[in-house]
Formats: sequence, structure tokens, C-alpha cells
Amino acid sequence: MTRHLLITGGAGFIAGNLVHHWAAAHPHDKLVVLDALTYAGNRATIEPLIANGAVHFVEGDIGNRALVDALLAEHAITHIAHLAAESHVDRSISGPGAFLSTNVNGTFTLLEAFRAHWLAAGSPAAWRFLHVSTDEVFGSLGPSDPPFCETTAYAPRSPYAASKAASDHLALAWQHTYGLPVLLSNCSNNYGPFHFPEKLIPLTLINILLGRPIPVYGDGSNVRDWLFVEDHCRALERILLSGELGRTYCIGGNNEVSNLDLVHQLCDLVDEQAPEQGMALPVSPSRKLIRFVADRPGHDRRYAIDASRIRDELGWEPQVTVAEGLRRTVAWYLANRSWWEPLLSAEYGTYLAGQYAGQLG
Ligand code: NAD
Ligand code: DAU
Repeated sequence: MTRHLLITGGAGFIAGNLVHHWAAAHPHDKLVVLDALTYAGNRATIEPLIANGAVHFVEGDIGNRALVDALLAEHAITHIAHLAAESHVDRSISGPGAFLSTNVNGTFTLLEAFRAHWLAAGSPAAWRFLHVSTDEVFGSLGPSDPPFCETTAYAPRSPYAASKAASDHLALAWQHTYGLPVLLSNCSNNYGPFHFPEKLIPLTLINILLGRPIPVYGDGSNVRDWLFVEDHCRALERILLSGELGRTYCIGGNNEVSNLDLVHQLCDLVDEQAPEQGMALPVSPSRKLIRFVADRPGHDRRYAIDASRIRDELGWEPQVTVAEGLRRTVAWYLANRSWWEPLLSAEYGTYLAGQYAGQLG
């Protein structure tokens, strides 16, 4: 069967990487991207694949039912990898409305449109809808708590996490009630190429290259479990192709690092790699740029994932160590200024000024 795969949010960070991965791994599949090109969407991420015809790009909102219906029918979509979302916790605190609109109502619209399309085709057994979610739906761990796993109770604590939790419940309810062929994944923090500048790792790298202060929330002791984005894409591929319907898969890097430790590593890597590229840094050593700023309200202390189910059932394990992944990420941001510089737009400047108001002096 030829797969006709719709990737939502394909101009964003993870879905953009997934588009590249899928086009290389499955060149005979038809690939369609639906993306609203919000501030976080960047067509340049997948432009070469649009230009060479490997991807058909549609600009539009997942919440637009008429548009989604037409797209599913026109491209005879058989599989969906749903990644379109509002994804930044800080923005969900200052403006939660867009998170409910896209993450909850948008997912609802997509599920309903796919259900109608699937029913009209006679409910084919091979079709799939992969709902891509986050470990943040499980809340926050204490220092010695066991990691999150598929049976951990949901306890979202930010508007972003609550909106993703709601969308997860919708996706699984559509599988349970209507038999829609839905799968779900909950992944830890990703990093790698094409990551929008507002998130901790690209923010740190870009600020070092521009000689700007690096904001660290609180005392920098919050812990995240980092996974190289290509490993996440490989996991999504396994789930979409071999996962069990109605089943959840937790994905993680087994790489718990405190924010301050991570920022230190990034500073040292840039200090090492920039001179090798003949690049003089505005401030050196880069650690001089670190500033402790007001903490994020409700800041989750620690995330960690037990990924044994996807390892045991689907044979997935991360292939990229954190040392290698961070080295590659730093190299990518040094080499791809033309990708990130245009993103430092007026909208982003206004966001930064509001987010770190007066704290970066
Ligand atoms: P991102 O913010 O980089 O990209 C989101 C993309 O969705 C953008 O291209 C944006 O234009 C598009 N989009 C937003 N609203 C839309 C709408 N209404 N209709 C169509 N397109 C819309 O996000 P990301 O960090 O790549 O995350 C992708 C998905 O993976 C999200 O569902 C997120 O919850 C999940 N996730 C992210 C991480 C992470 O570390 N970044 C980890 C686990 C899960
Ligand atoms: O865990 C998965 C989640 O990871 C995804 O669901 C989210 O979409 C993704 O954005 C990410 O959420 P985080 O809030 O963990 O990522 P962020 O890069 O915003 O922050 C990482 C950590 O760094 C977090 O503890 C907050 C801290 N931080 C962040 C920023 C932007 C700072 O210390 N300073 C900052 O300026």
C-alpha cells in the first residue's frame, strides 16, 4: 500500500525534522504538510523538499474543517502525524487562548475530519493517526521520584501542558469510542537543527553568537531529559509503522541534565567550535553572559522518561549520545545563521522584551 502521509506543523521544529527524515527514508510515500505558519513556523526549514516536489505544502489552520476535509480528500490521506501545536510554555502563561484553540480545538477538528474521511473509505484497517504529545502532561517529578511512564497519572501544571493533556484524552477517546486508528506518544525535551530561537538551547546558542545575556530561570537547577530530534523522528516512524492501536509510547533520551549544567556545556562547546570556524565571539568566555532571572511561574522541577515500552515492543533506542547531539547542534547553529537570523523579527523582539523585561540589562 502506498502511504499518503499528512504531517501537521511540518514547518516547525520536530515536524520539520520528521519531514526530512520521512522523505529520505520513504521516498515512495506521498508527503503533504499542513502548517499555519505561525511565528514558530518557517517554510525555509522544508523549502528544498517543497521545491523538488518531495513535499506538497499547504498553508492553513488545522482548525479549519473545510480546508482539512478538502485536503484529506484531494490527497487521499491514509496516515497523519499530528504535530501542529502551540508549543512554548512561557507563551502559554502570557497568552493561553491560542493553546486552547490550536492544541484542543484544532486536534478535535483534525480527529473529526479524519474520522469522516476514514469512514467514507470503509474504515481501512491500515490507516493511522499518530498524535504527538509531551511528557509535560505528567506534571513534575521530585529529585528521587521514578521517571514518567505510560501508566503515570496525568497532572499537567501549565496552560500548555493542560492543553496537550486535553488533546491526548481526545485522541484516545476517539480510538476507544469510534475505533479510529489512533496512536499516542509522549516525548521528553528535544533539541537539534531548526529549533525556534525562543527555546532554551537555541536561545543560549544565538545569544552567545550575538554577545547577548543568557537568561537562566531561578537557580538553574530544574532538570530536563534531552533527546536529539532525529532520535525522536525515528521513534515516531516506528510507532506509526508498527505501534499498537490505542497504545501510548513514552519516548526519552535517558539524559537528565540541569539547566545550568546544560548552559555551561553549550557555552564551552561554542567557545571551542567558533574559533575552529574562524569566528570571533563578541564575549569570551561565553559563561560570562549567564544571568539568573525571575523563575517561570509554576516551573516544573524535573522531567524524566522511562522508555522501556518502546524499546521492548518496538525495538527503539536513542542512537545519538548527548555529547554528540550537542556538538552537532552547536555546529548547525554556527553554520546556519541564514536560517535563524531572519527569525529575530519584530514579533520575536517584542516577545523577548516582554518575557525578560528589564532583567537582561
Ligand atoms: P514548534 O512550535 O516548533 O512548531 C509548531 C508548528 O505548528 C509550527 O510550524 C506552527 O506554524 C504550526 N502550527 C501552530 N498552530 C497551528 C495551527 N493552528 N494549524 C496548523 N499549524 C499550526 O513545535 P515543536 O517544538 O516542533 O513541537 C511539535 C509537537 O511536538 C507539538 O505537538 C509539541 O507539543 C510536541 N512535543 C515537543 C517537544 C519539544 O521538546 N519541542 C517534546 C515533546 C513533544
Ligand atoms: O518536555 C517536553 C517539552 O519541552 C515540550 O513539550 C515543549 O514543547 C518544549 O518547549 C519543552 O518545554 P520546556 O519548557 O522544558 O522547554 P524550554 O526550552 O522552554 O525550557 C527548558 C528549561 O529551561 C526549562 O526548565 C525552563 C528553562 N529556561 C527556559 C528559557 C526559555 C530558562 O532557564 N531560561 C529561558 O530563557
